[in-house]
Amino acid sequence: MKRIYMDHSATTPVAPEVLEAMLPYFTEKFGNASSLHGFGLEAKEALEASREKVARLLGARSEEIIFTSGGTESDNLALKGIAYRNREKGKHIITTAIEHPAILETCRNLEKDGFSVTYLPVKRDGIVDLAALEAALRPDTILISVMHANNEVGTIQPLEEIGRVARERDIFLHTDAVQSVGKIPTNVDALGVDSLSLSSHKLYGPKGVGALYVRKGTKLESIIQGGGHERGLRSGTENIAGIVGLAKAAELAERSMTKEAERLTGLRDRLSSLVLDRVKDAWINGSMERRLPGNLNFGFRYVEGESLLLYLDSKGIAVSTGSACSSKKLEPSHVLLSLGLEPVDCHGSLRITMGMSNTCEDVDYVAQCIIEAVERFRGISALGRS
Ligand SMILES: Cc1ncc(COP(=O)(O)O)c(C=O)c1O
Repeated sequence: MKRIYMDHSATTPVAPEVLEAMLPYFTEKFGNASSLHGFGLEAKEALEASREKVARLLGARSEEIIFTSGGTESDNLALKGIAYRNREKGKHIITTAIEHPAILETCRNLEKDGFSVTYLPVKRDGIVDLAALEAALRPDTILISVMHANNEVGTIQPLEEIGRVARERDIFLHTDAVQSVGKIPTNVDALGVDSLSLSSHKLYGPKGVGALYVRKGTKLESIIQGGGHERGLRSGTENIAGIVGLAKAAELAERSMTKEAERLTGLRDRLSSLVLDRVKDAWINGSMERRLPGNLNFGFRYVEGESLLLYLDSKGIAVSTGSACSSKKLEPSHVLLSLGLEPVDCHGSLRITMGMSNTCEDVDYVAQCIIEAVERFRGISALGRS
């Protein structure tokens, strides 16, 4: 049976060029970048060349890139680092209700530490309500954290406008761009952000490595203390092979992004029409205009997303229901609830995220299997028949 992977927002395979670039750093070039001998210098050179490549993808300077273990750590470092460093100025943080747990749980932790956090609502289309942002601003607001693209519904937030609001009031703006980097342009000056998180495994790089962009002049407190690596902001011997992999992935993304985004948008729109033309009581969650190229989040009334997922899996197709991290829980997705969906409608959601390996034939096969699955489960559901 052919296997079709359409869960690229959960993770992506390592690109062959990425693996090839990484391999020497496990064997002959295994040095510690802090060592003063040739092995160390070789590792240090690879580290700094990688920093430049990652910076280039973001339109940043290489000294503004801090390597981390991934998106979660980058978000923790940005939020805690900025909050602790600026606590004398104020203790109010603004974020959104649809953030990834890497942001939401960090905010909850900061609340325990005496910070107060406003969780902004989003509109039905999954876009942040700018009027609510303006209304939430306080004299003691020190930080706004709004994700660039959402991991479940793929909606792209108006960061440029949020950046303007933040700059006018001298408030730091962080963005979790884990889902957007490598897929759509993420130039830090155009977005107007002070810090930005990215994760290698979402852009055909290895797992367990990521980066935090920190605008020059932005002061952070470190959250991991030790030997003072990464300008004292992230101690711990650098994962050179992983970092080289991330840099290669960034380089590949820079080259292919425009064309690939166009191709994936075509596949996405094809899949959406094939399914919605044939299935009643079905819809797409989140804006179709401000959306990641390969993302679709279907809602089907009278069916369970989990049943659809398992049926599709039996046909060799990998998709997901809520976000990858929360899909083991059967609680309705906090993102879909924030969009105003009833809990029962959240349960019939299916997230499809396409990527490099997906073709037009895959889309046709997946559409056919989804249509079959919905008919089958509605056939055996009393509600579906009524
Ligand atoms: C929006 C978003 N932020 C953060 C993360 C966490 O990234 P990592 O898996 O690299 O820790 C994810 C992963 O799914 C994500 O989608």
